[in-house]
Amino acid sequence: MVPCQRWKAESKRTSVVRLTLAPESVMPAQRLDGRTLAARLEGVLAEAIRHGLSVAGRPPGLAVLRVGDDPASGVYVANKEKACARVGLASHGAHLSGDTPQQELEAALRQLNDNAAVDGILVQLPVPDGIDDQALLQVLDPDKDADGLHPLNLGRLVRSEPGPRSCTPAGVMALLKEAQVPLSGARAVVIGRSTLVGQPMALMLQKADATVTVAHSRTRELAELTRQADVLVVAAGRPGLIGAEHVSPGAVVVDVGIHRKAEGGLCGDVRSAEVAEIAAALTPVPGGVGPMTVTMLLVNAVRAWTRRYGLPDPCPGL
Ligand code: GUN
Repeated sequence: MVPCQRWKAESKRTSVVRLTLAPESVMPAQRLDGRTLAARLEGVLAEAIRHGLSVAGRPPGLAVLRVGDDPASGVYVANKEKACARVGLASHGAHLSGDTPQQELEAALRQLNDNAAVDGILVQLPVPDGIDDQALLQVLDPDKDADGLHPLNLGRLVRSEPGPRSCTPAGVMALLKEAQVPLSGARAVVIGRSTLVGQPMALMLQKADATVTVAHSRTRELAELTRQADVLVVAAGRPGLIGAEHVSPGAVVVDVGIHRKAEGGLCGDVRSAEVAEIAAALTPVPGGVGPMTVTMLLVNAVRAWTRRYGLPDPCPGL
């Protein structure tokens, strides 16, 4: 468990618990290490697969539909396939050219829906211009929707019903839980309102009893708003958007962004060096949210498989 002695409740007089740095702890932020947690969860999933194999007679299968040649998507898909191999899932990759007609893509997804060896399916986003990604997502069998993006699964999230959850926000919630970040009554600000991250993130935080504000590209006086956050989740897709002026002492900052720097290497939406001087905790880029996204994808696929064969949930509480 990630130790987390640095948060303390400043006041219990009201229902809002303000998180501040303990006076003795003016030091760089605690690193919310996604790699370590992801590796541990991979071990749990691998064990669940080993145990379930004799009942199921086959490993869980994850299919990734990739359309076109977006280079970043190529890297993400390769990472997902490597993670499947480490944990013991069978990968069923389908890579179709960027000019494949919508109907053919939908037919390919229906085939995966009907494939008994496939438990989880994901459509790697973004798809090329001219392809309707929302229509593709609607074709997915909701119970095989490894990304939690089918409208039924987004509805299940809104209604707090069980179902696969969007991987990046679910991974963020797992990191916050691991670090024992108190969310009940906390002020959370989510920057970004995408269906993939911002919106499900806001819902998940709200369901954990945080008071959530969603900021976006039209938000005025962003820094004034974000300085009120106990928990700040940045999914803006803008390198270095968030700096010291946006963060109040003791905040927990989660950086969902990942960008390739011109000079080489990766960076997030947060200027990590300066924010680390102020925040109580910060996710690194790389090694924070990214590995958790991949792991939650595996959780969704393995969970679909265990459910199908009446096996125990591999990760209850996640
Ligand atoms: N592209 C970038 N991140 C993701 C993700 O989490 N899921 C899918 N399907 N596509 C992505």
